[in-house]
Amino acid sequence: MKTVGKERFVITALCLVVVGIYLFVNAPPKLEQTTAESSGRRIPVEQFFSMLDAENASIRAMYTAEIVGPGQKNGLKFDENWKKREVLAGPLPALFLRETSALLQRDVAGINLFLGSDFPIVSANGFKGLQVEYFKQVRADGKAQFFQDPSTKLYTAMFPDVASAKPCVSCHNDHDKTPKKDWKLNDIMGATTWLYPRKSVPFEDVLQTIEALRRSAVSTYAMYLDKVTKLPDQVQPMIGKQWPKEGHYLPDIETFGKAIAARNSAGTLAGLLNTAEAARK
Ligand code: HEC
Repeated sequence: MKTVGKERFVITALCLVVVGIYLFVNAPPKLEQTTAESSGRRIPVEQFFSMLDAENASIRAMYTAEIVGPGQKNGLKFDENWKKREVLAGPLPALFLRETSALLQRDVAGINLFLGSDFPIVSANGFKGLQVEYFKQVRADGKAQFFQDPSTKLYTAMFPDVASAKPCVSCHNDHDKTPKKDWKLNDIMGATTWLYPRKSVPFEDVLQTIEALRRSAVSTYAMYLDKVTKLPDQVQPMIGKQWPKEGHYLPDIETFGKAIAARNSAGTLAGLLNTAEAARK
């Protein structure tokens, strides 16, 4: 119990620091610096993408490892047709991401996020134009790629998506629509791809976008919980503060949201401090 208390304290302290930075950078500008450009409070789009991707990857990992994996062991269903009214199942991780992205795009003008591949199960997830070329590089060295696409003018980031667990490989290889049946563990299966129209992003927009991403993930999870409450009583898990690894439970929206904040806030804060430091040099 002691360590939990300590962790809470650390998280609270970190939140206060974030709020402090937020208030500090949002203090009213001096008269001569009223334009956003001259105030210098902007973050390069590459760092913006990297912070968002770290947030998103952590949310996806948590959903996969803490909800889908142990949930399936308790009899919960996850399905690619989860959005159909008659299907009482949750989204597969790739579709959790797609729904989160759709909600995020509604909240934040210009942002786009998708999970793509050169061998996609769903052809709409295939790369287009320059993405095809840059993905070859991602596959060659396993590093993220950043570029501006001259045809769309959009800044683009591609982060490798690795087959980190056996189910990635088996589900894709066995899928009746897969164009590739020999995926192996640790293969780069695709790339989490982000698009944004601006070369640098005002600090306040960075914070708002991170907040919107978290909110979108929580709303996606809420859509799943809504399905769960329609399950017959005998198979319905208890929704509250406990997680599927503890038994036939699912966390409620608040617990899920707090877990995202607890996992991500320290990393995001470190990213913000690094960019602030880099900007001073
Ligand atoms: C239970 C089945 C299943 C599991 C497990 C699974 N996927 Fe998928 N994945 C799918 C399906 C189905 C799609 C297509 C979803 C859509 O866009 O409609 C998909 C989409 C993708 C895409 C986008 C390109 C495409 O194929 O359409 C990537 C990349 C991907 N998955 C990687 C992974 C990785 C990495 C893991 C493990 C961490 C994983 N998947 C686990 C079924 C699965």
